[in-house]
Amino acid sequence: MRLKGEIHLPGDKSIAHRAALFSSLGTQSAVFENYPASADCLATIGCLRDMGVQVKLEENRLQINGVDLFGLREPDRALDAKNSGTTMRLLSGILAAQKFASRLFGDQHLNRRPMGRIIKPLRQMGADLAAVDDQFPPLQFQPVDVLNGIDYELPVASAQVKSCILLAGLHAEGKTSVIEPVPTRDHTERMLHLRKERLNDGRIRIVSDRTVEIGDLSMRIPGDFSSAAFFIIGALLLPESLCVIKNVSLNPTRTGLLDILMRMGAQIEAHGIREFPEPAGDITVSYRKLQGISLEGNIIANIIDEIPILAILATGAEGRFSVRGAAELRVKETDRIRAVCQNLKMLGVEIEEYEDGFSLEGPQRMKGGRVTSFGDHRIAMAFGIAALASEAEIQIDNPDCVNVSFPGFWQMLKQLTN
Ligand code: S3P
Repeated sequence: MRLKGEIHLPGDKSIAHRAALFSSLGTQSAVFENYPASADCLATIGCLRDMGVQVKLEENRLQINGVDLFGLREPDRALDAKNSGTTMRLLSGILAAQKFASRLFGDQHLNRRPMGRIIKPLRQMGADLAAVDDQFPPLQFQPVDVLNGIDYELPVASAQVKSCILLAGLHAEGKTSVIEPVPTRDHTERMLHLRKERLNDGRIRIVSDRTVEIGDLSMRIPGDFSSAAFFIIGALLLPESLCVIKNVSLNPTRTGLLDILMRMGAQIEAHGIREFPEPAGDITVSYRKLQGISLEGNIIANIIDEIPILAILATGAEGRFSVRGAAELRVKETDRIRAVCQNLKMLGVEIEEYEDGFSLEGPQRMKGGRVTSFGDHRIAMAFGIAALASEAEIQIDNPDCVNVSFPGFWQMLKQLTN
């Protein structure tokens, strides 16, 4: 089995959520090509429609008419973020500042994810919101007159929390600034042209306030790098593979995976790179025997969504591969450390599980068997790639959960293996 061919991927999920949310707060009409028709991004659109935003989505072309900063209207029903943490956390920064009440809920997975991390700073800004056990959705927002700006140092490295506070800051009186312990994806700052300052100790402070002007954000959304990761790693894992991925996001706050793969011995070429409005280009990757590596520290936030598929790659690499400092994986769509370790063990791989990561000694053969996705799109896709490298068939329960981020995943994989 090998991966061979050229692919175009659906638009980047993180950019797409922000494109829709931010444009709705502006005054212009914006058009986004290559808008992903994934369940997560449709959830964001659904919530905006429920608040009176005019949105037209036809064949991956999204047109959205801004209603201005305080132009959203009170929804008639509770807003449904479905499986999407980005929808819930970013939208909360907007709902917290409204003069109307609203309720925001998710599916059974999202309703178990921690929201204390946004509730705390939003309350400091004067928001009136409640959650189950002060932590879990549904979130209930009461009307507020006005929020006040805060200076907030993030206790966890999270682009969703950062963006939530900066969005609340757009509506607040005075300045809001967020200091990041380590850099996380910077799409919000880029798209809103927010002011950034480098502090003496090297950390970054990002500032937002009511004077921020939301211009016409129209763009062709580059392919999702986190979706590309499955094919990049598939190609590295399967002898005789050669994959070209066209027009994919190459934002440096997202592409730490490429640096790691190069350090493991991969040869990956990026070409046709353009910088604006978001860095993007083409990637060529071919099979290569790789070495294990130890990962921890600042790089983890950059590769957080790619760690499950890295675990699959590690089974084919020579020597020890370890990830530490990644406890955040336990509060993603599912506990991804547990999911990866449990499934790999099921396939006969010896892997050690830690509270904040895992390690294994490669190479190890993956036998066939039944694995579970836990309803998590990235776990299903990671084991979809594992299934191409395993000795016998791997069955994955609920393979359709990939629709959360990548509805055409299985078809594309089939096309590349033909
Ligand atoms: C995202 C941020 C990350 C990432 C998620 C998308 C975003 O979550 O895992 O898939 O678009 O801001 P955290 O902010 O919880 O790390």
